Amino acid sequence: VAIDGPSASGKGAVAVRVSQALGFHCLDSGALYRLVALAGSDTPERTAETMQVEFLDGRIFLSQQDVTDALRDEAVATRASDVARRPGVRTALLQRQRAFRKPPGLVAEGRDMGTVVFPDAELKVFLTATPAVRAQRRYKQLKDKGIDANLHALSRDLEQRDARDAARAVAPLAPAPDALQLDTSERSLDEVVGVILGWCRERKLGGR
Ligand code: DC
Repeated sequence: VAIDGPSASGKGAVAVRVSQALGFHCLDSGALYRLVALAGSDTPERTAETMQVEFLDGRIFLSQQDVTDALRDEAVATRASDVARRPGVRTALLQRQRAFRKPPGLVAEGRDMGTVVFPDAELKVFLTATPAVRAQRRYKQLKDKGIDANLHALSRDLEQRDARDAARAVAPLAPAPDALQLDTSERSLDEVVGVILGWCRERKLGGR
């Protein structure tokens, strides 16, 4: 199951819930770009290829160090969007992402899951939400974590990041032609998960 969409469209939370309901593995592909950004090397292509990463019980480790919280920083997100423009970085991360596809199945979320990484996914979903709703969601997410945030600056950063992600030459943020689009602006997390699980049932996906 491929779930793509812009920043703060709800992909992360939705993918975790859908994967739990189906009993599938889950891939947060943005974390890989964030890890390359966090490593901060002058040769991100090489970092993407050689970095030592572990996903364990919802925590993410870089060279055995728990970097889960550091990865959520908005400054890291902005740098991630920047390294994500580099074709060499994307190529290096391609195999890492495809390695997550294991029985009984995978829910993968990001920007190019349905278009580039898993073009043969059995279900492709493209989540959208209005810019105002997305900024508000990210604001709340940061505040809940005790991170100081400014709604106006956040809104501007999200807009810039999405414009950059959508405009890049390689694997831009875009719905696959066969993706089902879902506007989450006025739907709760439960409702969005419910709609996607309905689509999964129609395709007989998931053992549970
Ligand atoms: O989903 P996220 O906010 O963690 O992603 C951070 C950045 O990584 C995003 O702005 C663009 C890049 N990214 C990408 O280019 N392709 C993906 N499949 C996932 C993320």
